Amino acid sequence: MTAAATRLLPADAAGLATAAELLARGGIVAFPTETVYGLGADARDDMAVARVFAAKGRPAFNPLIVHLPDLAAAQALCDFTPQALALADAFWPGALTLVLPLRPGAGVSRLVTAGLDTLAVRVPDHPVAQGLLRAFGGPVAAPSANPSGRISPTTAAHVMAGLDGRIDAIVDGGACGVGLESTIVGCAGAPVLLRAGGLPAEAVEACLGMTLQRPDAAQITAPGQTASHYAPQGTVRLEAVAAAPGEVMLGFGPIAGDLTLSATGDLTEAAANLFGHLHRLDAMGAAHIAVAPIPDHGLGRAINDRLRRAAAPRVCDAPAAR
Ligand code: TXA
Ligand code: MG
Repeated sequence: MTAAATRLLPADAAGLATAAELLARGGIVAFPTETVYGLGADARDDMAVARVFAAKGRPAFNPLIVHLPDLAAAQALCDFTPQALALADAFWPGALTLVLPLRPGAGVSRLVTAGLDTLAVRVPDHPVAQGLLRAFGGPVAAPSANPSGRISPTTAAHVMAGLDGRIDAIVDGGACGVGLESTIVGCAGAPVLLRAGGLPAEAVEACLGMTLQRPDAAQITAPGQTASHYAPQGTVRLEAVAAAPGEVMLGFGPIAGDLTLSATGDLTEAAANLFGHLHRLDAMGAAHIAVAPIPDHGLGRAINDRLRRAAAPRVCDAPAAR
């Protein structure tokens, strides 16, 4: 699906049914939550998720939050620690996102997690978001519905101003009540505050009966920014026009490979295939990987960002991080 004209949908049953149908067909639809408007896609659909990154012009694949109607739906995707369960009981639905170990076979696109083995999940407290999630009946990945580098939208008009013509539809549910993105708490290990947001950290700390670790800029790089998260086992050589002896070729466009990101040179398709192909190269036991040149515009920038990390020297990677 390409987004030619962006439809403004009313937040009634007919509007939600249309929005859910667009999501089911791989479309991307903005919708209100109590925090900010999100730009939703079927979290299981690589192409739809790639379109979200393209529409936002995100230069890198930061992982996305998956929105679910209730705790049970979230438990189907992630493993909840007792602390995570306590937080979900206390604050869901609401402005709290939990980062948890992804369950094997959860079926979420690798673009959503940016290749990480954790998943960010949230149950929004907004009748329109709830209505859409229930009408769609599946997990909805949604970053804030703004062009990359701009502030998060809190009205449908903000979304339209930033993304008109780049997304399929906007469900107009009026202004968001909280107006600040959700608070993100990492619960894969000791609870850590990954982003301050609409739910005060003090409330989280009171619920857990402990002080949250704060991310230390020197210690915790922005999610998805550590090379080791993206590096396949094999060495990676970029801008390759052909495979050298002993290399496995990852092709693009006219340069065909053992695996090809997009034979037609479609960057959205290439983005959708990127993490899956890197994992398949690992599974194939590829020791040396040659990657065809990818144009450095649009989603190509995000793809090249990830490929450069994959190709970067790994001498400084702590063994524990691999
Ligand atoms: O209020 C919100 O959270 C809004 C509404 C739409 O739900 N969404 C939102 O999404 O603010 P976004 O993409 O703008 O911010 C998501 C943040 C990013 O900073 C991302 O790095 C982090 O969540 N994140 C997602 N998955 C993660 C993971 N597995 N580990 C750590 N951080 C993660
Ligand atoms: Mg954002």
